[in-house]
Amino acid sequence: MAGPAPRFGWVLDQLALRGTERIVEVGCGHGIAAGLVVDALEAAPGFLDLPADQRGRYLGVDRSEKMIAASATRNAAAVDRGTAAFVAADVGDAPVERGSVDVVLAWRVAGLAEPAALGAVLSWLGPGGTVVLAFDDPDPARAAATAARARRSADAIGATVGAARSVELPTGAVTALWLSPT
Ligand SMILES: C[S@@+](CC[C@H](N)C(=O)[O-])C[C@H]1O[C@@H](n2cnc3c(N)ncnc32)[C@H](O)[C@@H]1O
Repeated sequence: MAGPAPRFGWVLDQLALRGTERIVEVGCGHGIAAGLVVDALEAAPGFLDLPADQRGRYLGVDRSEKMIAASATRNAAAVDRGTAAFVAADVGDAPVERGSVDVVLAWRVAGLAEPAALGAVLSWLGPGGTVVLAFDDPDPARAAATAARARRSADAIGATVGAARSVELPTGAVTALWLSPT
């Protein structure tokens, strides 16, 4: 996926969404990735043929009210269609039901490299669910170092790192971890 934010597209291309996934993004910021996730869900073959309650949907969580307002404004049409919603909350207090999510995404949210926050988002996953944490930095070593911190936290709480992938993009280096509960 080319475009203005290749670090988002690099992750989304690997997810190959089917259009039915329940997705939560933590630290959605300005809502740029939100728009790409919604596009990927809605572009999946058969999306519109699914009953509304079986269609994939996206929830953006950010502790900043300002970021949530910006995200909701940027993605207002997707909110109106029911594909996207946004909530201002810290990851520890977010109104996400345990076991209700297929994919948790977070780009550039260093706090998720800590055990408590990582444990919280892993608890949201249903069977077969995945947490993807992507850390980027102009310096590949720094992106890798934050990912290594997340990996140590995963080890500490008994989570599984299914994959760790790195790429160097024109916008900087990205290292991403795919995690699941044990
Ligand atoms: C560096 S920005 C990254 C924004 C966007 N994901 C991106 O990659 O451009 C981090 C975002 O995560 C949010 N954030 C950080 N810690 C958080 C937490 N514990 N709970 C919810 N949001 C958090 C911040 O408010 C901020 O909007």
